[in-house]
Amino acid sequence: MNKVKFHDIIIKHGSDILDSDGMKIEKECIQHGSFSVYDHSLYVTSMCLRISKKLRIKVNEKAMVRGALLHDYFLYDWHEPTKANRIHGFTHPGIALRNAEKVFDLGKIEKNMIKRHMFPLTPVPPRYREAVILCIADKLCATRETVGGFKNKIKKKFRRNGFNA
Ligand SMILES: [Fe+2]
Ligand SMILES: [Fe+2]
Repeated sequence: MNKVKFHDIIIKHGSDILDSDGMKIEKECIQHGSFSVYDHSLYVTSMCLRISKKLRIKVNEKAMVRGALLHDYFLYDWHEPTKANRIHGFTHPGIALRNAEKVFDLGKIEKNMIKRHMFPLTPVPPRYREAVILCIADKLCATRETVGGFKNKIKKKFRRNGFNA
């Protein structure tokens, strides 16, 4: 299955999330390099799908897409040099979960994905396979987003698939 299919799956399960006010904020907030939090969330979500298909891991596809799209729904610029942002790595999963819960109906898988995605930086491991996949995808994508050649390739793919990343 190729990336175009992944984008179709993301739209199918997450179009309400992509259209939310929070995602408009995510588009304005930088995550890594020239990647906004919105770009990063899309990339991580398609990476989760890719990992689960490649390794043939049985997942709740809808929950995985929604949890991955919302995993960094913290909605502020963490690069601002404030005291709170110094511990962003530890605190943002809880903030993202609170923000997401206010707007969306979340099941136990989505909640665990958001809350535990920073493992092992935060010490409690993820409980569900969807959350383990997210943990791995998040780190893989974060690395690729900061490495030259990958960045433009990924963004071009987003644009081709109709996402205004
Ligand atoms: Fe995160
Ligand atoms: Fe992330």
